[in-house]
Amino acid sequence: MRTLIGAAALSLASCTVSSPVPDPVHGRQIAQIEGCISCHGDRLDGHLVEEDAQFAIAWSSNLSRLIPRWDDAAVERTLRSGRRPDGSALWFMPTYVHARLSQTDMRDLIAWMRTVPATGVDHPPLKRGPQFAVALEHEMQDSATQAARLAPRAPAAAGADHARGRYLAQIACSECHGPDLHGARDPEPGQPPDLAAAAAYDPEAFRTLLRTGRGLGGRDLGEMTQYGPERFVGLTDVEIDEIHHYLVARSHIPRR
Ligand code: HEC
Ligand code: HEC
Repeated sequence: MRTLIGAAALSLASCTVSSPVPDPVHGRQIAQIEGCISCHGDRLDGHLVEEDAQFAIAWSSNLSRLIPRWDDAAVERTLRSGRRPDGSALWFMPTYVHARLSQTDMRDLIAWMRTVPATGVDHPPLKRGPQFAVALEHEMQDSATQAARLAPRAPAAAGADHARGRYLAQIACSECHGPDLHGARDPEPGQPPDLAAAAAYDPEAFRTLLRTGRGLGGRDLGEMTQYGPERFVGLTDVEIDEIHHYLVARSHIPRR
């Protein structure tokens, strides 16, 4: 019962803080957190993301030219499903993360994309090399199939007080730390660990971790150090604290 009341109070609170009209400034922060800007560029004009003739030549799409041709519903459906309006599946898009965006965050993200002027050219479609088929036989899946497979895997809930922190961790960390935040299966050194690791950080050190991408003692954390700062600049200090509180609470929940 307490939880239910807490949840009602929380959704009321988020109704009052979120703007009743689309907020493109907040939408840009979501684009940073989700890595849309890391992968599609600040001007959303796309670039070469994979250049290995044996495996694939892949461009991130020029969204600045594409979004004006799609209505909001088509953009949202594509982002949540991993399929374009013509039914074709996308590759290399972390759809399983984007599928979790709240209605408000999705609305603001689309509103921001519509403010970006069209520049550049459309890029060629994905070109598969001989190793692509080999990767398919192993673990690789298109974004729609992957999202459907990972949909049941969500991070442990830690009560209404931590609902917001849990949501933020899901949309900001799960691309690398996994949909349930358990990290790589048997993490080798350098791979993303279970986010129970956050419990080793005090609030100050955790803020430094997300602002600089560096671990305790200034440790280089590879991709986290490389991409963290440009993504997490979209998170406020309060949001970083909410993520931390949730991850500490989650670290006390026995793993099922
Ligand atoms: C890890 C890199 C990566 C991230 C993060 C990413 N994208 Fe993409 N995106 C791609 C690639 C690569 C393609 C081209 C997919 C293909 O060719 O099948 C693509 C395609 C798309 C398409 C389909 C366009 C078309 O050509 O039909 C849309 C829409 C899109 N991205 C929007 C977004 C948005 C919005 C975000 C953030 C919420 C985002 N992407 C985050 C890499 C990424
Ligand atoms: C672009 C990929 C990426 C994203 C996004 C990402 N991480 Fe990481 N993270 C990593 C990698 C890789 C490591 C392991 C690096 C190592 O041990 O060398 C790591 C390690 C960590 C560690 C362990 C640090 C230590 O002291 O060993 C914590 C805690 C952490 N990440 C928190 C987060 C949180 C919280 C988020 C979301 C707000 C996040 N990460 C998002 C890639 C990422």
